[in-house]
Amino acid sequence: MAGGALAELAKRRGFFFGANGAYGGTAGFYTFGPQGAALKRNVEEAWRDRFTRKEGNREIEAPTVMPEAVFEASGHLDGFDDMLVECGECGESSRADHLVEDATDFEDAESLSGGAVEDLIHEHDVACPSCGVALAGRDVENFNLMFATDIGPGDAHPGYLRPETAQGIFVEFPRLKEYARGSLPFGITQIGPAYRNEISPRGGLLRLREFTQAELEQFIDPETDEPPLDRVADVDVRLYPADEQAAADGEYRDTTVGEAVADGTIGSAWVGYYLGVAREWYERVGVDMDRFRFRQHLAGERAHYAADCWDAESEVGGDWIEIAGFAYRGDYDLSKHGEHGDDAFTVFKRYDEPKTVERATVDPDMSVLGPEFGGDAAAVADALETLAGRDPGAFEGETVTVEIGEGDDAETHEVDADVANFAVEETTENGEHITPHVVEPSFGVGRTVQTLLAHAYETDEVDGEERTYLALEPEVAPRDAAVFPLVTNDDRLVELATRVADDLRAAGLSVAYDDSGSIGRRYRRQDEVGTPFCVTVDRDGIEGDGPETVTVRERDSAAQVRVPVGELAAELATLRAGGEFVSLSERYDSVETDVETTTN
Ligand code: GAP
Repeated sequence: MAGGALAELAKRRGFFFGANGAYGGTAGFYTFGPQGAALKRNVEEAWRDRFTRKEGNREIEAPTVMPEAVFEASGHLDGFDDMLVECGECGESSRADHLVEDATDFEDAESLSGGAVEDLIHEHDVACPSCGVALAGRDVENFNLMFATDIGPGDAHPGYLRPETAQGIFVEFPRLKEYARGSLPFGITQIGPAYRNEISPRGGLLRLREFTQAELEQFIDPETDEPPLDRVADVDVRLYPADEQAAADGEYRDTTVGEAVADGTIGSAWVGYYLGVAREWYERVGVDMDRFRFRQHLAGERAHYAADCWDAESEVGGDWIEIAGFAYRGDYDLSKHGEHGDDAFTVFKRYDEPKTVERATVDPDMSVLGPEFGGDAAAVADALETLAGRDPGAFEGETVTVEIGEGDDAETHEVDADVANFAVEETTENGEHITPHVVEPSFGVGRTVQTLLAHAYETDEVDGEERTYLALEPEVAPRDAAVFPLVTNDDRLVELATRVADDLRAAGLSVAYDDSGSIGRRYRRQDEVGTPFCVTVDRDGIEGDGPETVTVRERDSAAQVRVPVGELAAELATLRAGGEFVSLSERYDSVETDVETTTN
């Protein structure tokens, strides 16, 4: 389906549209309308169900503004850049690597240096996409994507809007590990907004400056913790590994999670586990599995924190887009916060049996070091202690050599070995402090929503008329059902339709009530926003001696059955939870219509 038709439908029917239109619009910011907000919420709830509840994980909600020190530690201040080139003619800023990828065979120009990208712009005569003037000779600069702000009045406390929800989890690790009673493995999730000052926002919800992420940080002991791989070992996956991408005739590898982990295509069993869980989840919420793959990152493409990374990608409008990333982040994040932060970003790993270990110690005689080294005495004592742990053999001679300070300020000092009071003691240890490793499935909610809409968009013919409908899964569709009185000039039908709608809402279903226009038009309106079931109250349903009945029409097949009112809420709830409409057809009378559907 063309992106234009989806964008038009999204705006006209209240899924999403560019924000702040009354003030000329703000690129990179979108508002979700009533249908879109409901769809997005349902996607988030389905994610929460699978990645938080079913995995036994815990969800948190951290602030979106964080102090500068957090991003110094995380590496975002220095490394979270995109390549920017500004047009000398019209001033338009563009992603230099994207322009080069569009003009050449390079697939990951992001991994090249700025100078190399400048050369390619020159060689391939790359022009400004806005005014068409050549960009050759323009500088390619690193542009940091974080939005800066000040915390409180004045500029003494710089802060940033978080560029990923993950940092809110890492920073709180010292407390979160207590809630997990210090025991690995455990997983923390968070769903919320992230902010990136993208150079060229584009593609509807695909590249925004404010977007929603659903992230899971799985903390593990890399030496002992194994994922429950057997649960997903048989899940089929279409992989596009880095070596296949590099090969001229590279192909997909259609395999199972179990095989791909066993043969090393997926290097980490934890990453493999989450690829399997994600594959099942995407299918559950309605991603078309013929338009879905997992692509491994090329070495130059990986984020500064990632040891290995796979993306879930979906095909939308002829392009493959990244909808989630699965990174093995190792101990990068917790080690960095451990170096910069005040608290302990480690857990205590208890040994099965206490261990007796030899430990080298020093007890420097400060009454000697003080007069000898003056202001450097404490640093010399620290250096002796570090050296004892690292190289006990250094204390075997009459003097010990230590270095204090760094770089140009480094100084070497000789210390009498007796003054150091070196000794080797035997101690019993019950365990050690280790820095957990992190495995991170990170989902873009907006990109998932856009994929679902694109993959659900269908046209066919019903009653000789062309219709557009969204074949959204009932679990995520904005509304569970719509209720119509067949005509509005019969009070009995209106009264029953109102009561049915009220009862369904009281049962927790999200229900539209529509009494305007022909019944065919009302069906089309609901089809276009993906309402899976339409309930029509007609005279046949209230006449006669039996219980009141209504017709229930299934969106995709347009088939109808007659269901007793008293059973309606339970039946619709079952359908929403994944039940099949065909089971209703088996138990209730079909309503004959002259409907014929032909999918285009
Ligand atoms: N914590 C890891 C992380 O943030 P990422 O690959 O940069 O990794 C994760 O982002 C997901 O967030 C992406 O797969 C994508 O779905 C979504 N995402 C990233 N940048 C986005 C943007 N500018 N607009 C919309 N979604 C975005």
